[in-house]
Amino acid sequence: MTETEILRPHAEDAYAHELSALEATDQDVRPAGWRLSPKAVVRYILGDTLEDGTVITTKYFGERRLIEVAVASLVTDRALLLVGVPGTAKTWLSEHLAAAISGDSTLLVQGTAGMSEDALRYGWNYARLLAEGPSEAALVPSPVMVGMKTGKLVRIEELTRVPSDVQDALITVLSEKILPIPELNRETQARRGFNVIATANDRDRGVNELSSALRRRFNTVVMPLPATLEEEVRIVVDRSRAAAERMQLPPIKQDAAAEITRLVTIFRELRSGRTEDGRTQLKSPSSTLSTAEAISVVNQSRALSHHFGNGDIETEHLAASLSGAVVKEPEQDSAVWREYLDLVVRNRQGWEDLYAAL
Ligand SMILES: Nc1ncnc2c1ncn2[C@@H]1O[C@H](COP(=O)(O)OP(=O)(O)OP(=O)(O)O)[C@@H](O)[C@H]1O
Ligand SMILES: [Mg+2]
Repeated sequence: MTETEILRPHAEDAYAHELSALEATDQDVRPAGWRLSPKAVVRYILGDTLEDGTVITTKYFGERRLIEVAVASLVTDRALLLVGVPGTAKTWLSEHLAAAISGDSTLLVQGTAGMSEDALRYGWNYARLLAEGPSEAALVPSPVMVGMKTGKLVRIEELTRVPSDVQDALITVLSEKILPIPELNRETQARRGFNVIATANDRDRGVNELSSALRRRFNTVVMPLPATLEEEVRIVVDRSRAAAERMQLPPIKQDAAAEITRLVTIFRELRSGRTEDGRTQLKSPSSTLSTAEAISVVNQSRALSHHFGNGDIETEHLAASLSGAVVKEPEQDSAVWREYLDLVVRNRQGWEDLYAAL
């Protein structure tokens, strides 16, 4: 496949030029096994302009301190746990951290309720196992084992979906930095550079608490929702522009920020249960209405307007995508949405067109 045929290239490929420019100009000490110094990793995540003029785009919009704490955790012998409500860029940040630190974001375990310990340790090629008995060649390593052998970061997505007893397979890996293979009477020792970044969502049903033994081996960073309306609008504008490129949609002609501001305002008000001026109490729908979801609504509006409209994001396109994002459970959400429309949208100055479209 050529680069342009791939739907979503890995971060280390998509931003290869930024990473190599950072590597070339990085003057600070790099921890063993790291491709960049912690300072350069933070620059990669938050964006900057390098001494040689290379522009580093912003990957994560938010507090510098939070990213510094996350990066510093990975230097210590504790692993990093990113927790937060859905759509707060946990997965996004972990991918970019792995790309910047290890040059490889592909060592990934997706946590599921049905997962077995093999997914965190190793499995067997059964044909070879039967033919030859347990041997090095018959062993199928997990991403965790590969990360230990090669000294790279391993990402574990949705750790709290994994059954508790399976999660505990990580304890030895994280505290002793070894993975025993009793069948071969040996062990894998982790090379410097190995560590784990796990993500967990604190909203979903069916999550399993981390045991306190495991929790102790992680530094937890709570990923916040964007603090202000302006900040959230900036994220949505930036990320939806990147998504539009990926969807091969042309850039929007007219300024979409005004429409996006209305959209994000609606999301924030419904999420927090009151209007931005704090005067009116509202009911919240069952949908999460995260930043990530606002980005999707804008993307859908873009696709609608490009293929079925004149190319600009118009109120009617936004309205068409918006209701679907808010109303996830027809019965209960419809009522909440209708009340919001009548109480807030209808009476807000300059929103008459939006009210009519909705
Ligand atoms: N503060 C932010 N800065 C940059 N991008 C953000 C920010 N918040 C959200 N996003 C965007 O939101 C999208 C979704 O984020 P992501 O999938 O990482 O969320 P998540 O926290 O892993 O959610 P889930 O719990 O559902 O897995 C990403 O494309 C990311 O670019
Ligand atoms: Mg995620």
